[in-house]
Amino acid sequence: MHASVAAGLEGIVGECGGSAMCATCHVYIPVDEQARRSFPAVSAVEEAMLDSAAAERTSESRLGCQLSVTDSFDGLEIRLPERQL
Ligand code: FES
Repeated sequence: MHASVAAGLEGIVGECGGSAMCATCHVYIPVDEQARRSFPAVSAVEEAMLDSAAAERTSESRLGCQLSVTDSFDGLEIRLPERQL
């Protein structure tokens, strides 16, 4: 989320600054890619916020602010929801 906002990427709002309190950093990452790249599991707080996201929650939904960019993101295709607010 921080990298996206700093780069001016349209579609990531990050209203709460990364505190997992707004769900305006909702992204879609293919589940098989999450497993293959060993992403951290969804926490209870992230679960609750994803349920309140403006766009449809799917099995691919994650909060961008709860993911740290590492080399494991190399080549990863992340989709954005139609709306964040
Ligand atoms: S920036 Fe608010 S939940 Fe991620």
